[in-house]
Amino acid sequence: MADGRVKVGMIGSQFQADIQVTSYHMGYEAEVVAVASPTPGNAAEFAKKLKIPRVFTDYREMLKERDIEVVSICAPNSLHAQMTKDIAAAGKHIICEKPLAMTIAEGEEMIDAAKRHGVLLMYGEELFFTPKYLKAKEMADAGAFGKVHLVKQSEKHFGPHSPWFWDINRSGGGALMDLGCHGIAFCYWFLGRPKLKSVYCQLGTYVHADKTKPDDESLCILEFENGVMGLVENSWARRGGMDDRIEVFGSEGLTYANLHMGNALPTFSERGYGYAVEKAPTTTGWMYPAFEELWNYGTPQELAHLARCARGKESLQSTGEDGLMLMRALYAGYASAGEGRKITLPYQPPSGVKRPIDLWLNGPAYPKKP
Ligand SMILES: NC(=O)c1ccc[n+]([C@@H]2O[C@H](COP(=O)([O-])OP(=O)(O)OC[C@H]3O[C@@H](n4cnc5c(N)ncnc54)[C@H](O)[C@@H]3O)[C@@H](O)[C@H]2O)c1
Repeated sequence: MADGRVKVGMIGSQFQADIQVTSYHMGYEAEVVAVASPTPGNAAEFAKKLKIPRVFTDYREMLKERDIEVVSICAPNSLHAQMTKDIAAAGKHIICEKPLAMTIAEGEEMIDAAKRHGVLLMYGEELFFTPKYLKAKEMADAGAFGKVHLVKQSEKHFGPHSPWFWDINRSGGGALMDLGCHGIAFCYWFLGRPKLKSVYCQLGTYVHADKTKPDDESLCILEFENGVMGLVENSWARRGGMDDRIEVFGSEGLTYANLHMGNALPTFSERGYGYAVEKAPTTTGWMYPAFEELWNYGTPQELAHLARCARGKESLQSTGEDGLMLMRALYAGYASAGEGRKITLPYQPPSGVKRPIDLWLNGPAYPKKP
């Protein structure tokens, strides 16, 4: 087994790749030694900025580098499955960003490929490592709130930064697919991974209908086997930057955690000041600039954990199987909105459905334009 820092190859050179590389380098356990991204100028500039020594335009070439042990997939959702299978075949461990894939079948193939080649497939869900949310879980597990009966999570902003998210052939869906995977994962993880029994979902496209088909508002009610309810709210139509929060209710207590405003400095500025927080449109007027933003998200902790898993020191806390369970829930969510009813799991989408959102767009309850 290799020693020293775990050597990482990064696929992608934009938003999440930047967060991941910065996060890897905040710890001592891993170093990103190569980046692969198809636009030559972008990849080279990214490598220079973040001090990554090797640059590739084809990730398959990067996979030939013998010293790379872990590869991070920070590319559009439609590419996750093929990339995972190629990385597994190259004998390297994988972290795949959320959502796991476009289809349930793809997710199954990814898990199977990792197993066959004896590599780890980590599902990229940083909320399992978010310090504030971990504290809430620690208190719940210690009985602080008595018997928990309701868990809420919401993540909202004014819509994604890159054009591919708005293209359902590359993303698979809108706010539910992009952000609901976090919320469903949070409730599932927080409650100790009970079986998800049913999903009821209401979706709409309210402010971005001019440029997109995907849902920009999503409300999702989850029912777990143990009777606990989850409420997951997501939006691509929320002004003012990123908002991420949870609420937990039990027979003997409750807790609220607001990841962004709760960790920030309530600030007023006439002039502005560079950067406030993810997806904030401005830094003038009243804003809530974040500090130690990545640490508060949990990404450095998530990636240090992956590095320890790659060396056999820990076992994965977020797996391909978790990602697959979430894909099943997302399919059930879109089917629920399309059919206008609660969907009981396990749900099997009709054969041939390539994008979860089609179950909504083609469903009888989808509001058709006159
Ligand atoms: N965990 C989180 O909170 C979080 C946040 C943002 C994005 N994500 C996920 O990360 C993934 C990437 O999203 P993003 O926001 O970084 O998107 P982005 O548009 O900012 O970056 C996508 C990157 O993928 C690269 N790419 C495209 N085709 C490629 C190919 N064939 N080979 C190699 N690279 C290719 C692009 O060049 C670009 O560098 C998505 O799955 C997204 O859902 C997760």
